[in-house]
Amino acid sequence: MDTYVVTGKKPLMGSVSVHGSKNSVLPILAATILARGESVIHNCPALRDVFAMAEILECLGCRVKYQEGSMIVDATDLSRSDISDCLMQEMRASVLFLGPLLARTGEAEMSCPGGCALGPRPIDLHIKALEELGADIADRDGRLICRAARLSGRKIVLELPSVGATENAMLAAVGAQGTTVICNAAREPEIVDLQEFLKSMGAKVWGAGGATVVVEGGVQLHPGEYTVMSDRIVTATYLSAVASAGGEVELLGADYRTVAPVIAALTEAGCAIQSLGNRIWIQSHTPLRNIRSIYTAPYPGFPTDAQPVLMAALAGGTGKTEFIETIFENRFSHVEGLCRMGADIQVDGIRAIVRGCALRGAELEAYDLRGGAALVVAALGAEGESRIGGLGYIDRGYAALEDTLCSLGADIFRFREPDTYGLEALEPGLSTFEPLKVAGGEG
Ligand code: EPZ
Repeated sequence: MDTYVVTGKKPLMGSVSVHGSKNSVLPILAATILARGESVIHNCPALRDVFAMAEILECLGCRVKYQEGSMIVDATDLSRSDISDCLMQEMRASVLFLGPLLARTGEAEMSCPGGCALGPRPIDLHIKALEELGADIADRDGRLICRAARLSGRKIVLELPSVGATENAMLAAVGAQGTTVICNAAREPEIVDLQEFLKSMGAKVWGAGGATVVVEGGVQLHPGEYTVMSDRIVTATYLSAVASAGGEVELLGADYRTVAPVIAALTEAGCAIQSLGNRIWIQSHTPLRNIRSIYTAPYPGFPTDAQPVLMAALAGGTGKTEFIETIFENRFSHVEGLCRMGADIQVDGIRAIVRGCALRGAELEAYDLRGGAALVVAALGAEGESRIGGLGYIDRGYAALEDTLCSLGADIFRFREPDTYGLEALEPGLSTFEPLKVAGGEG
């Protein structure tokens, strides 16, 4: 995998646009198979995970094109309902094809997405929700064999507000006869985006963003067209990068409402932050102060995906801050690298105590998507040179991160390994998607 070479302590100055949301576009790509014809998704980011989803769509018989930031999916000739282990292992979001395949074809076969960097990542809530709607799901040696002669609307109560389980339930419910009520639904903004895309297909869905989502099934759907929201975790990452390196940056296309807890934390740490419409301005010129404890929580709480990048920024600041990671069992993979940079962080189960101090460059390795981004954030604020390996993880959720940071004045260079995985085939705009062989994805 490629390597970043970063020389820290260069203030970031200027303005950047925030690209479309990975966690919004992935379920929407899965939703395109619900109708015959050509759906169009605008503001679609050029990410490994997006191209991996596109590859699955092609394997199912769809035609896929990526043109100037829009993904065009023609699902007319969908001819399969099974997904290979190889494709399933690339990322967790492939499980989001379960609901729409059952709705469109009445069957689905796929392996359970792997346990991975963040923890076991079970899908029991997905399965329970789909069985409530009438699906018969058998686990045969790690392969899910799913059949649904008929899906019927039901009241579903999720044991916890799982984002993926909420999305899979919505994607199946549009193909069910009758009304489905999803209680204790996830309230993330990406769920609202999925609802709005489904409505562009003619579906009758409402309540997303709240704890109860209602789907009136049995409606014949047509292809949809939609522009996805900006990526709130990429926004949080850039805000943390400025907080870490210092400087003054304006984020364009960023919705401050979706990152309110991150803005509150960075403001408490001493950054000046203002927002107007879809712009966020941040200025940071002094070492960050410690802040009150950060508890990650389902939306609208502090997003677990922003925990690593905020921790990286505060690790180079001053004072003591406590992080409690309540969503995933193993989401401190970045701590080892931060400590190699001189950070003072003690981890005890789901708690991490950070005592800010000056960081220095080091040899680092990304082990998951947001943990990798955290290492970049820390390197930007560290004295000297850092080398960061494992960029395949970072490429899953950040489009052209190094180019964006360079445009703001960061000293960051991407050293490219010889092309041993056919990555060029994933360059945006090509219609062929070469399988990628990377360790199981966490996102
Ligand atoms: C989505 O993952 C996001 N991924 C994650 O972003 C994000 O961290 C997570 O939601 C929480 O916000 C995508 O949208 C593609 P969950 P998801 O189901 O749906 C447990 C990133 O970096 N759980 O809300 O998998 C689970 O183990 C990625 O962009 C069950 O127990 O998250 C976890 O502890 C990382 N059984 C908690 O719920 C289930 O059936 C929340 O998981 C499902 C989940």
